[in-house]
Amino acid sequence: MPKTSQELQPKKITTRSIREMKQRGEQITILTAYDYGTALALDRAGIDAILVGDSLGMVVLGYPTTLPVTMEDMLHHCRAVARGSQSALLIGDMPFMSYQTSVDEAVRNAGRFLQEAGMDAVKLEGGRERLDAVQAILSAGIPVMGHLGLTPQSVHQFGGFRAQGKEPAAAKRLVEDALLLEEAGCFSVVLESIPERLGRLVSQRLTIPTIGIGAGPDCDGQVLVTHDLLGMFDRFTPRFVKRYADLHQAMDDAFRTFREEVRGGIFPNATHSVSMDDDHWEALLKSLDEN
Ligand code: KIV
Repeated sequence: MPKTSQELQPKKITTRSIREMKQRGEQITILTAYDYGTALALDRAGIDAILVGDSLGMVVLGYPTTLPVTMEDMLHHCRAVARGSQSALLIGDMPFMSYQTSVDEAVRNAGRFLQEAGMDAVKLEGGRERLDAVQAILSAGIPVMGHLGLTPQSVHQFGGFRAQGKEPAAAKRLVEDALLLEEAGCFSVVLESIPERLGRLVSQRLTIPTIGIGAGPDCDGQVLVTHDLLGMFDRFTPRFVKRYADLHQAMDDAFRTFREEVRGGIFPNATHSVSMDDDHWEALLKSLDEN
């Protein structure tokens, strides 16, 4: 029996499906993408959600932090990702200063991710100090993912990319912030670089999924920066990253071999070249001679 168009269409993952995964005890997988090709590959691999992270600034645009990333940078890359993905939930990361200055601006910018860039949800950093913005964005009907712990947009306040929540007061504040984000209506919360046991505690106390990155194995899901996982970013690799490939080395090998083969006359050869019929060639030479 031929499949109907509905059966052929991959199932779209929604914020609701992500929440239901926690209820079923299924681990949620999220990776970052910033371009069409990577989004296509993640989608085909069955990754549940794609985060167009503002890590874009560091791993693609070459900035030392995420702070210089603009709304226009984010929207440009979100559009490319949206063109490559059919089923994964798409989350756009709100860049520095796109939601901190006023609630109105936060809502307007969050709306642009859905209206202009094909995203399904937004992520923003912070707890109680961002609650007004979170609530306003949610009341505009835009799903929000929270982000607590090592929030990279506050790198200067932290004095570097340092683990957070290691002292009792900071850990308690993080638990309270996570509960506030859940109460406000966030569909999930990223926990970045915090003690494993704190990751477990927050995951047990919340009904919405926690997505860990350096927060231990007991979160409800895991997120990594794809460039770190693939070994494509060699400036530094955080302790919590597992490298599943060494694409930097693979790229280096390929680029050097290309250079050597071009210089040595090995590439291109007949299989990479376009042929022309002898009679057409003769006709060309004849017409050039006539001129
Ligand atoms: O920007 C990003 O990629 C992120 C993840 C590290 C969670 O925020």
